[in-house]
Amino acid sequence: MAEKVLIIDFGGHYSQLIARRVRELSVYCDIYPSTYSLEKIKEYNPLGIILTGEQANINEDVDNFKESVKQYGCPVMEISDEIVKEVCAEDNTQIKDFLYNDCKCKGEWTMSQFTKNIIEEIKEKVGNGKVLLALSGGVDSSVCAVLLSKAIGNQLTCVFVDHGLLRKNEADEVEAVFGKKGIYDLNFIRVNAQQRFYGKLKGVTDPEKKRKIIGEEFIRVFEEEAKKIGKVDFLAQGTIYPDIIESGVGKHGMVKSHHNVGGLPSVVDFKEIIEPLRALFKDEVRKVGLELGLPEHLVFRQPFPGPGLGVRIIGEITEEKVRIVQDADFIYREEIAKAGLNKTISQYFATITNMQSVGVRGDKRTYEYAIALRAVLTSDFMTAQWAKIPYDVLDKVSSRIVKEVVGVNRVLYDCTSKPPATIEWE
Ligand code: XMP
Repeated sequence: MAEKVLIIDFGGHYSQLIARRVRELSVYCDIYPSTYSLEKIKEYNPLGIILTGEQANINEDVDNFKESVKQYGCPVMEISDEIVKEVCAEDNTQIKDFLYNDCKCKGEWTMSQFTKNIIEEIKEKVGNGKVLLALSGGVDSSVCAVLLSKAIGNQLTCVFVDHGLLRKNEADEVEAVFGKKGIYDLNFIRVNAQQRFYGKLKGVTDPEKKRKIIGEEFIRVFEEEAKKIGKVDFLAQGTIYPDIIESGVGKHGMVKSHHNVGGLPSVVDFKEIIEPLRALFKDEVRKVGLELGLPEHLVFRQPFPGPGLGVRIIGEITEEKVRIVQDADFIYREEIAKAGLNKTISQYFATITNMQSVGVRGDKRTYEYAIALRAVLTSDFMTAQWAKIPYDVLDKVSSRIVKEVVGVNRVLYDCTSKPPATIEWE
């Protein structure tokens, strides 16, 4: 990519927001921390530089730096945290002016061009080699699978593990797209490991223990499959750009352990890792998915935690509780979609609490589970507001759940933001 600008982050919160605005204006950009050397910046060879962070931090560090950057001779723009919202507003043209007038960009960064280029790059890199991908059915790994399939067809093998903690019908939906009857050329292996996971999780109630068991068991299942396949040349991963910058910065303390990344490379015999999406933001990944004809229900799928329903079943995981939470969640999703809210709410799902309470059905006393509904608005999932879903929608969801899902007699709505609550209950 010849046409690119560099965003230098002086420790603010908005560098990704600015980067996304730049990319939306069809100019490629990367984010570097302000600790990188001038050499590294020269090597990058940007058409322009944007400085971000709190104004005080920029001022403190930048004088020297700006002199050198000036010598280097490319236009520099400052977007401090104090003015970022204004500059990044939809109708503000300052960034556009900077890119197109000052830096003389032409706007070469488009997803259709990216898709063409990356397919060629993959072909060249992989040659006749074999590639293995752990497919979760999430947006990133799905788009990764399709790109690889377009580039190298059945030299790609995808392993999809059904751990029995997926949403209702999800495993079949993934198989319908990627399996034998699907539309793509690749080897698809579905591993039905539900009972194995339920067995390991029996009697376990601690959230972090559950996560650990699910993560470790996943690796074991994957390892067994990888052994059957034998040596592969490449292990593919659906890593995206925020994963890379965030793992580099690593300033947030751990609240919950997330198990969807890491771990795999050490158990597979391979030469190299291949990460076709490593330059992309999530919205760009979605555009690539659409370019490649991936169905909308996969492209716009909401985030789903690696341990799946394991963290939405409070207390011990039993098959009955899995069935209940799957059915309640299915109804909730159906009604949210019917109300046209599925694209405005960032994440929404049902959780089965570990609490039973007294109710009445007909003339009989019941003692059944309470389901909690969650819906949040967020752009980065680090903070989130609870979504004010209209009462009539909640009413419909609640009436249907208690009527249609055996074992539930009460529905609660979670009206807590993050912080202090997290998005998932566990
Ligand atoms: P929390 O609950 O931490 O969630 O506010 C923030 C986002 O991360 C997702 N999440 C996970 N994702 N493995 C994952 O891959 C996990 O263990 C996990 N826990 C939470 C959550 O769904 C939300 O989008």
